[in-house]
Amino acid sequence: MKKRLVSGIQPSGQLHLGNYLGALRQWVELQDKYDCYFFLADYHALTSQPSANQLRENIDHTAAMLLAIGLDPKSATLFFQSAIPEHTELAWILSSLVGLGQLNRMTQYKQKADRAGQNAGLYTYPILMAADILLYGAEAVPVGEDQIQHIELTREIARSFNQHYGEVFSPPKPILNRFSRIMALNDPTKKMSKSVPGSAIGLLDEDNQIIRTIRRAVTDSDRQARTPSPALANLFTLLEAFGDLDQVRQMTKQREEGRLSYSELKEQLSEDIINALSPIKKAYKQFSSDKAELRRIYLPGEKKARATAQETLARVKKIIGISS
Ligand code: AMP
Ligand code: TRP
Repeated sequence: MKKRLVSGIQPSGQLHLGNYLGALRQWVELQDKYDCYFFLADYHALTSQPSANQLRENIDHTAAMLLAIGLDPKSATLFFQSAIPEHTELAWILSSLVGLGQLNRMTQYKQKADRAGQNAGLYTYPILMAADILLYGAEAVPVGEDQIQHIELTREIARSFNQHYGEVFSPPKPILNRFSRIMALNDPTKKMSKSVPGSAIGLLDEDNQIIRTIRRAVTDSDRQARTPSPALANLFTLLEAFGDLDQVRQMTKQREEGRLSYSELKEQLSEDIINALSPIKKAYKQFSSDKAELRRIYLPGEKKARATAQETLARVKKIIGISS
């Protein structure tokens, strides 16, 4: 039997290269090898308090984007979190086993609460995420580095539940790749993120916008330095992600010898990114042109996920004494 993987992404705006390399491209690579459950974490997206129109737009965007990057409903089980009420039901059940101290440790909460203001949803967000994962008995969760802490908490919650009630859940592990932390192009000390202008390249950015963002990307001032600056290392990471290996080797050598032209590096990188994104943009146009059809594509996945979720929740309800 194939190993089961679960992961989700919030529909919270345009997806960028960080999301793509850290999480989504892995999903596509993993979808045939594993039994994958991938979903839009639309309930999670409420924590940033979008307007209804904004949320609807973000959901449509993300739903079309997941298909455009190459996720295939014939390979992976694709669905919307909100279509499966067992997610929120299990989250409630788990919440009584989670200490406030455990939630207080979450660094993402601290960062997001600074920006969006504190709200209880943002605070208990990792419990819903634990439910997302445990509901499907996932062995592993492909995500970017910033989600590791949430997965560790999921492991703790699984163990607490098992200790308190009996063995039901197996603690999941994260799956990371070497692109699990892409830094902002305008500031290599921060993670690439859509909320800061100049930081990210969106997967649907126009070609000239990509060229402009890369041209403005920070590099370093010391060309003779032995090790690349974090900014330059980040550009090399992107080159490695999208470019050809010989090119990367050649430019690495040039850098080591102190004769790398930064403008050449940037031109090459822009070209590689544009080439990689062009088929995605084309596919996106198609998938987003018919919204009703787009939703229909997710229905078989929803049906399958729901059946699995119902089975787990029935077991849980029995073992906790809610149903007999
Ligand atoms: P978010 O848009 O924050 O919900 O993130 C969706 C997925 O993309 C998660 O698995 C994140 O870990 C991943 N991700 C977000 N930003 C980055 C980044 N700068 N580098 C690598 N992965 C990222
Ligand atoms: N918290 C994740 C993020 O911000 C999204 C997410 C929600 C998720 N539920 C999940 C990821 C379950 C993996 C598994 O990116």
